[in-house]
Amino acid sequence: MDLNLTEEQEALVTTCREFAQREIKPIAHELDKNARYPKELVAQMAELGLMGIEVPVEYGGSELDTVAYVLAMETISAACASTGVIMSVNNSLVCEPLLKWANEAQKKQWLTPLASGEKLGCFMLSEPEAGSDAAAQKTVCVRDGDHYVIDGVKNWITNGPQADTGILICMHDKSLGHRGISAFVIDMNAEGITRGPKDDKLGIRASHSCQIFFEGHRVHENQRLGKEGDGFKVAMSTLDAGRIGIAAQALGIAQGAFEAAAEYACDRKTFGKRIIDHQAVAFMLADMETQIEASRLLTLRAAMAKIAGRRHSKESAMAKLHASETANKVAKDAIQIHGGNGYVTEYPVERAFRDAKITEIYEGTSEIQRIVIASSLMRG
Ligand code: CAA
Repeated sequence: MDLNLTEEQEALVTTCREFAQREIKPIAHELDKNARYPKELVAQMAELGLMGIEVPVEYGGSELDTVAYVLAMETISAACASTGVIMSVNNSLVCEPLLKWANEAQKKQWLTPLASGEKLGCFMLSEPEAGSDAAAQKTVCVRDGDHYVIDGVKNWITNGPQADTGILICMHDKSLGHRGISAFVIDMNAEGITRGPKDDKLGIRASHSCQIFFEGHRVHENQRLGKEGDGFKVAMSTLDAGRIGIAAQALGIAQGAFEAAAEYACDRKTFGKRIIDHQAVAFMLADMETQIEASRLLTLRAAMAKIAGRRHSKESAMAKLHASETANKVAKDAIQIHGGNGYVTEYPVERAFRDAKITEIYEGTSEIQRIVIASSLMRG
C-alpha cells in the first residue's frame, strides 16, 4: 500500500487543517452546546470544494479521489464531528449514488448543484421499522402513468431539516422482497413532503436529523435511479462508500481526542511529575495511538479498494467497525486521562465521547458490519 500522498492530497489536507483551525475549532463547542447547524461552515466548505470531492469537475465537483476524501473527512471531523457528517452525507450518500446510478440528464440536473455545494442533500433509507433490516421498506411508490405516488415515513434523516435534494429508497412491489425496491432522486421542497422537528440527540448535535413524511408525493419516472428493482443495490453500494466516510469521521474524532489527551498529559502534574511520566497514562496513550493508526490503515485500504473499482463491502465494513470502536475507546480513555476535567464541557474530550457513539450505529451498526464481513467470507 503506497502511503505517500500526492501533491493534490497534501494541498487538500493543508487547506482542511487551516480551515479547521481558523474557522471550525473556535466555534465547535458553541455549535454543540446550542445544537446549532453550522450554516456558515457549510457555505465555506462549498467554496473550498469539499461538498463533492470525488465528483468530476464537469459536474461541479473537485475530481479528487477517495483517499483525498478520507483525509478531508478526518481533518474536518477532528475539529467538529457534526460538520464532518454534514459533509459526508452530501459526498458519499448523495453525490456518490448519483455519480454511479444517474443517467447524463439526471447528473446535469441533480448532481451539479449538490457537488458544488449550491444545494444540500440527504439520504432516505431508514424507517421506524426498517433500520438494520433495510429491505423491510414500508414507504411505497405506486405507478400512476409516467409518475409514481409516494407514501410513508423516513427516520433519523441526517441533513433532513436543511436538504434541498434527497435520495429516496422505497418499495414498489413487496412480493419481490429486496428486488421490489426502487430508488429516486427528489426535490425535498416539492408538494407531499413534510419534515418533523429535529431530533434531540446525545452527540453530533450541530448536525440535524428529522423524520420525513411522504403523503401523495408525485415523482416522475425520469427521477428513478437505475431500473425498477435496483433500489436495494443502489442503497447497499451507496453504504459501501458511506461507511468509508464514517470510518474517516470516527478516525477524526479519535485523533482529536488523542491529541487533547496527549497535550493534557504533558501539562498536568501529579505526585511531583507530569502524568505522561506515569506508566499507567503513557501506556494508555501508546494503545490509543496504535489503535488509531490501525484504523487509519484500514480506512485507507478501503479507500484504495474503492479507487480500484472493485466491490469493497468487506473493506468498508472492517474500516468502519474498527474506527468506530476505536473512537469510542479512545474518547473514553481521553476522559480518564483528563480526570475530573474530562467530565466537564470546558474540555473537548467530553464532546468527543458523545460524538463517537453514533459512529457505531449509523450507516450500519457494528453488528451489521460484522454481518457484512462474515457474509463475504461465506461468499468465498
Ligand atoms: N453492493 C451491491 N449489491 C449488494 C450489496 C452491495 N454492497 N450488498 C448486498 N447486495 C445485493 C446482494 O448481492 C443481493 O442481490 P441478489 O438478490 O441479486 O442476490 C441483495 O443485495 C440482497 O443482499 P442480502 O441478502 O445480503 O441482503 P439482506 O437483506 O440480508 O441485508 C444487510 C443485508 C447487510 C443486513 C443490509 O440490510 C444492511 O446493510 N443493513 C444496514 C442498513 C444501514 O446501514 N442503514 C443505515 C441507514 S443510512 C444512515 O445511517 C445515514 C445517516 O443518517 C448518516
